[in-house]
Amino acid sequence: MIAIGCDHGGFALKEEIKKYLDKKGVEYKDFGCYNEESCDYAFAAQKVGLAVTGGECELGLLFCGTGIGISMAANKVKGVRAAACSDYFSAKFTRLHNDANILCLGGRVVGAGLAEEMVEVFLNTQFEGGRHARRVDQIHRIEAGEIL
Ligand code: RB5
Repeated sequence: MIAIGCDHGGFALKEEIKKYLDKKGVEYKDFGCYNEESCDYAFAAQKVGLAVTGGECELGLLFCGTGIGISMAANKVKGVRAAACSDYFSAKFTRLHNDANILCLGGRVVGAGLAEEMVEVFLNTQFEGGRHARRVDQIHRIEAGEIL
């Protein structure tokens, strides 16, 4: 199960990606928003973040105008590693090297075609582990208040 959410700036792209996930047979839970009326991205960011870190969903997809505000908000949920990406390489390597658990896309930045490719690679790439696991662990030690 994939958690998805957006604000008004990401709504149209989220709807495009839902069609793509339907076509691919990928199950998802949509945490809103559900229309283009202005709304604040922190709400969907927190809901999707908690769904992922709580184990209800394996990975998350978030959409706002740039992908940035919603990633900042999601990253405040303990255990979230949200990556705002606008290119294919970053969407792939944030899984390989950062074990990112949420991909954040900007509805005003990337088109639906590129976004589909990025979602596809994000959902189907496994974390490499090894030296990268040590680095991800360091991120979480910072989150826990440790001075490295
Ligand atoms: C909303 O206008 C816009 O600021 C928001 O979608 C996002 O881009 C923030 O980072």
